[in-house]
Amino acid sequence: MKAFNDLADFSNDEIKALVALASRLDAHPEPDALKGKVLSLLFLSPSLRTLASFQAAMTRLGGGSFVISPDMSIHGLETRPGIVMDGTAAEHIREAVPVIASYGDAIGIRAFAERKNIEDDLQETEFTALTDLIDTPFINMESAMNHPCQSLADWKTMDDLGIPSNGGKFVLSWAYHPKALPLAVPAATLHMAAKRGMDVTVLRPEGFELPDQLMQKATAAADAAGGSIKESNDRDEAMQDAHVIYAKSWSSTRHYGDRLADQKLREQHLDWCVDESWFGNAQDDCRFMHCLPVRRGVVVADDILDGPRSVVIPEARNRMLAQMAVLHQMLGGR
Ligand code: CP
Repeated sequence: MKAFNDLADFSNDEIKALVALASRLDAHPEPDALKGKVLSLLFLSPSLRTLASFQAAMTRLGGGSFVISPDMSIHGLETRPGIVMDGTAAEHIREAVPVIASYGDAIGIRAFAERKNIEDDLQETEFTALTDLIDTPFINMESAMNHPCQSLADWKTMDDLGIPSNGGKFVLSWAYHPKALPLAVPAATLHMAAKRGMDVTVLRPEGFELPDQLMQKATAAADAAGGSIKESNDRDEAMQDAHVIYAKSWSSTRHYGDRLADQKLREQHLDWCVDESWFGNAQDDCRFMHCLPVRRGVVVADDILDGPRSVVIPEARNRMLAQMAVLHQMLGGR
C-alpha cells in the first residue's frame, strides 16, 4: 500500500480485510510485526486521538514514531509558495516535509482545510502540494475533505455493534457549534456509510447542504453497494427507524470562507443539540456516534454521551486498531 488517502481508493473487500486485520491484531497482538520501522507524523493542525493513537499503534506493533508540529521547538515553518522568507519563519515546508519523510518508512500528515475557497479545498490543493513533495508511503491523518482513518474506525465500530450494512439506516446530522468547522469528517463519513451500503440521510438546516461533488461521490458509492443517499431538514423524517445518528458540525457551504455570515446563520440553529427527544421514532437501540472532540451541552446532551446510546469511546479506540491494520499492510508487517 503506497497511500492511505481515501476509502474510495479501496474496494469493499479490501476495506473488510483491513477491518478483519484490525480485529485480529486486537485479539492476537503482534508486538514484533513492525520491528525497526519508523513512522513520521507531521501535524500542521491540532489533535488528541490521531496523535496518540498513531504513536500507540506503532509501539504495539514493535515500531517507533516521532511527531513534528509547528508549536514544538522547531524553526518557524513557512507554508506559502513563492514567498520571500524575510519574516520570522526560517524553514519552508518544501524542505521540511521531504526531510521529515526521509527519516521514516512512512509518513502521516494532518493539514486541515484553509476554508477560504471551497473549490481549492474540494481539490485538496494544500494536502496534495505536501504529498507531491515525497515518495514515501503516506497516510492522510485529516485533510480538507477527508479523514480516512476515522472512517475506517467508524466502519469497524458499526461492524462490532452488528449494525447492518445493507438495510442499515444512517443519519449524518449537522449540529450546532460556535465555530465554523471543516467539512473533512462529514465528507468522509457520508462516503463511508454510503460505501458500506447503508441508507444514508444527511440531516442539516438550510445553508449547510454538503457540496454537490461530495453528494455525487457518495451517491455513486451507495449505488455500487446497494445503499441510498438523501438530504433532509426534517428531524423526525430523517430519524425514522435510524440505527445510527452521527453528529458533526460543519461550515455553512452557502457562506464558505465568510466567518461572519456563517456565524449569523448558525446562531439561528442553537437548538441543533442532540438529546433524547431526537430518538422518538428511531430504532430503540439507535446509537450515537461522534469522531470527538465534542462540546457537551452544545453538540450533544450529557445524558446521551454518558448513556447507553453513545459509542464514542470504543469508536475512538478503534482509531488505534484501524491504524494498526493500515500500518501493518503499508509497512509489510511480518
Ligand atoms: N477524531 C479525531 O481525529 O480526533 P483528533 O482531532 O483529536 O485527532
